[in-house]
Amino acid sequence: MDIQPISVYEEKLQSSFPTKDSIPFEVRISGKKYEPLYLLDGKILKWDGNLEDVSSPICINENGQIKRTIIGQVPSMDEAAAMEGLNAAVRAWNNGRGEWPTMSVKERISAVEQFVARMRLVRDEVVKLMMWEIGKSLEDSYKEFDRTVDYIIKTIEALKEVDRNNSRFSLDDGVIAQVRRSPLGVCLSMGPFNYPLNETYTTLIPALIMGNTLVVKPPKFGVMLHQPLLEAFAECFPKGVVNFIYGTGSKIISPIMKSGLVDVLAFIGSSRVADVLKLQHPRPHRMRCILGLDAKNPALVMPDADLDLAVKECVTGSLSFNGQRCTGLKIMFVHKSIIDQFLTKLAEAIDKLPQGMPWEKGVKLTPLPEFDKAVRLKGYIDDAITKGAKVVNQGGGAFYETLFKPAIVYPIAPNADLYDVEQFGPVVPVCSYNDEQEFLDFVTNSNYGQQLSVFGNNPKIIARLIDQLTNQVSRININSQCQRGPDTLPFTGRKDSAEATLSISDALRCFSIRSLVAAQSNENSRDIIQNIVNGRHSNFLNTDFIL
Ligand code: G3H
Repeated sequence: MDIQPISVYEEKLQSSFPTKDSIPFEVRISGKKYEPLYLLDGKILKWDGNLEDVSSPICINENGQIKRTIIGQVPSMDEAAAMEGLNAAVRAWNNGRGEWPTMSVKERISAVEQFVARMRLVRDEVVKLMMWEIGKSLEDSYKEFDRTVDYIIKTIEALKEVDRNNSRFSLDDGVIAQVRRSPLGVCLSMGPFNYPLNETYTTLIPALIMGNTLVVKPPKFGVMLHQPLLEAFAECFPKGVVNFIYGTGSKIISPIMKSGLVDVLAFIGSSRVADVLKLQHPRPHRMRCILGLDAKNPALVMPDADLDLAVKECVTGSLSFNGQRCTGLKIMFVHKSIIDQFLTKLAEAIDKLPQGMPWEKGVKLTPLPEFDKAVRLKGYIDDAITKGAKVVNQGGGAFYETLFKPAIVYPIAPNADLYDVEQFGPVVPVCSYNDEQEFLDFVTNSNYGQQLSVFGNNPKIIARLIDQLTNQVSRININSQCQRGPDTLPFTGRKDSAEATLSISDALRCFSIRSLVAAQSNENSRDIIQNIVNGRHSNFLNTDFIL
């Protein structure tokens, strides 16, 4: 194949951006004006302070000038407004005596059921905003929405099951008791930009349904998509139970943390920021943390691996949503006997991935939302090149504004940034190895411990690797890419990768603590308990069975 100059690829990327008129009518959002709204104490209010532009990574070609588009504005709140959001959640919690935290599980479930029905009504609107705000393909944006709705429905079912099991008394050593799960308090919920809906809601909804009250701060990108849902939050839950605040983290989150009023921190982002937030809390032992943090999941491709399968999984593993997944494969170790074949097949597969605008049918690579991300990625590639690597695929690393052609970079030296930095973008670092020990050393020395993938067919070797690696990472994937799903499985990580475990049922545990009511099993206490239960005097102490 002829080697084309990089400018050819850059021009191709440049020509992928649409003019305003060529955008299909059904995917446009410009028809609707989005006001800078926020949700405080049960009311949707219009913010009249400073605003921040929402800049879409989907650039528009205006007479040959290609620029990011401003698709709306969101509030850029100050400290006082953020504290109002927190105080509303504190009031709704009311030291655990608020309407929501003391409501029966059945009633809370019914509120969440109403919410999910309302949520379905704004599916198209949320999905379109997601596509415009973070550049996720229309198809994947729909998948994210539907997966989130499914998650909520399964969460409701899981809570019913928990409640059924807790609707009985135990009698042991002369003590009669009922054990339930109670909410923890005020939860600060902050999701990431790559799954702005799903990863926010997979903590927000369990926290909510367990009876906690919330302050939600959407990520830097993926902010407006929450707006069509504000009304449902305002109308389905008592006032102050869910509050949305917007703005720069350092300005609005620091005072919230320093107040010491946050009981639960649900944060998906970097370990660096998580450490800052934790340290700001005056009594960190009072704050439960549910954290999804950095990862650098590696793949090991052994000599007997089914190469076509390994390549297919490595392509989706490293480049789904442009490599912007915490579970993405971020480095590959391939045995030296198959490295040439692997690289050839990988380059062929990657070069076939359709790149373009997120609404194009079958598109796999789309614009990147983070400002200057392409320049940063190029910096990692240049660093690896100075340390002996090459870009293996044609045009890899070419970029134009927010579109970046994926680059396979090989061989990655241990002192190159790409060896241990989480690139979170379309750069695929590959190393070759002689001895599995090199892979084991990488995993052991890594600061991260989320997941890994092994590709091979020898059960004995795979068994040995499993036994050596299960205490290093939280999930080992055999002959498949790393991933979070299905959502019934535990999702967590070791070292700098996570704190606490999420899954549909685990999340309910994360956002609650066990409380119990106990008494000596004598006639008097049995009478009291019987009276409370028969008269349905308590939301906690009861034997109601939710069907
Ligand atoms: O960004 C991290 C996500 O939780 C990954 O989820 O494996 O389903 O893409 P996923």
